[in-house]
Amino acid sequence: MFIGKPPEIPSSAITPKDQYLNRRGFLRGAASAAVVALGAERLAEVLSPRVGAQAGTKLETVKSPLTTSGETLTSVKDITSYNNFYEFGVDKDQPAQNAGRLPTRPWTVRVDGMVKKPKTFDIEALLKLRPLEDRIYRHRCVEAWSMVIPWVGYSLAEFIKQCEPLSSAKYVQFLSYYDKKVEKWASSTSIFWPYSEGLRMDEAMHPLALLTFGLYGEVLPNQNGAPIRIVVPWKYGFKSAKSIVAVRFLDKVPPTTWNDQARSEYGFYSNVNPNVDHPRWSQKTERRIGQPFYAQRRTTLMFNGYGDQVASLYNGMDLRKYF
Ligand code: MTE
Repeated sequence: MFIGKPPEIPSSAITPKDQYLNRRGFLRGAASAAVVALGAERLAEVLSPRVGAQAGTKLETVKSPLTTSGETLTSVKDITSYNNFYEFGVDKDQPAQNAGRLPTRPWTVRVDGMVKKPKTFDIEALLKLRPLEDRIYRHRCVEAWSMVIPWVGYSLAEFIKQCEPLSSAKYVQFLSYYDKKVEKWASSTSIFWPYSEGLRMDEAMHPLALLTFGLYGEVLPNQNGAPIRIVVPWKYGFKSAKSIVAVRFLDKVPPTTWNDQARSEYGFYSNVNPNVDHPRWSQKTERRIGQPFYAQRRTTLMFNGYGDQVASLYNGMDLRKYF
């Protein structure tokens, strides 16, 4: 598919209506049942913003010329119940069950390394830094499945400008929240926490790289990386770190989680590339989540279909070597 004109409709309208209403109805029903079951005091604790009660809150958004058109959106249910967020369990349905424990308020993002001056940004200030845009992107996991997700955010470049990196900074690293008491599932893996990802500066400054606060026009559910994550649509999904608490500017390639785990399987670049197979499976095709298992697999597109916009970032590079 291609990036074309923005859709004529706001994000609330692109949610399949039955799902949207069902979800609202469910939330209302669940809330009244909870009042009876818990009592007012306990309910206040449950709904406290500190534990992330904001998920589902409507966000004010504007259209974006950078949205992807012509794709059928993956349902809210699939986007929010089929997740990779290993801090909350390695099975796809575990993050939705367990990530309610993530304390999404108060939340700050620390910025350090090669910057004019280290700074700390509060999430409320970041939400207001730029108008929030509706951006539909294809999302391709290295595991050979894909979705189409209507994210909400603004270009990561807008945030990076506020960080005032030095000209010597060539890479940027993103570190996710980690507290082993909250994310007790993390310790049963061999991963070194916190989750770390990184981009070259010119990749991070590309307008398609999105600092993301929501999906389907609402605040991000915790399992999708609340309250702030990145989305890099031309790369495999693992490059898009969730629940970011620190951003560091460096002059060398930062250590990154999956590269540390298996260097021969997960490169630093990890651009979607149907011509470079994962050592254990083909990357030529993908399964679109939400479609029946017998549906034909889709052909995976170079740079996940965003080549017109991003291929020039890699001019002259051997993408087999720098996979
Ligand atoms: N970020 C953190 N902190 N922990 C993770 O396990 N998984 C990555 C990425 N970001 C992950 C993460 C992987 S493998 C993918 S495919 C995407 O998040 C999944 O994002 P989604 O669950 O919103 O679809």
